[in-house]
Amino acid sequence: MRKLIAGNWKMNGLRASSDVIAEIVSGLEGADIDADCLICPPFTLLGGFAGQTKGTALKIGAQTCHSAVSGAHTGDVSAQMLADIGAAYVILGHSERRADHGEASADVALKVMAAIEAGLIPIVCVGESLADREAGLTRKIVLDQLGASLPDGLAGHPFVVAYEPIWAIGTGLTASAEQIAEVHLEIRTALTARFGDQGQGVQILYGGSMKPANAAEILGVANVDGGLIGGASLKASDFLAIFRSAG
Ligand code: PGA
Repeated sequence: MRKLIAGNWKMNGLRASSDVIAEIVSGLEGADIDADCLICPPFTLLGGFAGQTKGTALKIGAQTCHSAVSGAHTGDVSAQMLADIGAAYVILGHSERRADHGEASADVALKVMAAIEAGLIPIVCVGESLADREAGLTRKIVLDQLGASLPDGLAGHPFVVAYEPIWAIGTGLTASAEQIAEVHLEIRTALTARFGDQGQGVQILYGGSMKPANAAEILGVANVDGGLIGGASLKASDFLAIFRSAG
């Protein structure tokens, strides 16, 4: 399956970060790698980056959206607005959104439908906490989140799933190849049970302290179809090194 290497900039980046985008774009030129490359900057940079990357191999996405198309929701941004400004993807249900903004899986499912209706590809995030893992609840938590975050209306529409163990995000700890293989297989099995053949073709990304030093090993694990990269996506050379590991 073609891989997807996605950078999640979180709340980082100013207009001067267009230099990083330029470096990534030039690094992708002529790179013969069977993978898509995506950067998800904060809202403020979406329009500029979408213009800067038009016609290049680098795609631009957002980090969340509202579930409504428009209306009285001060401070929010709709999926239609994101598509209008040039975003192709939107990350939904990231654990930081679930924790900081109380997003439940049912909220995520509504946002996923809004994204689909706007023509965006949603990247739906799931993952267990350290306490969940230590209590032996990883499988249950991940599959419960997955089931409730994916609306039935996704059938026939492209979408991506990201497995991000919360204890591995921004901590420098990564899940072992065995831990990743186990969860990704559970996710693949659940996707296939629910969406049939379509579930076989859904990209399942791993996220959590991916960096140039561990990318090749992680991207080589069965059912790992790419990465969602936070910290290491802020530096063009690190992000490009991870991208090249996908080839
Ligand atoms: P990290 O973040 O690579 O900095 O651990 C990943 C993510 O939260 O998407």
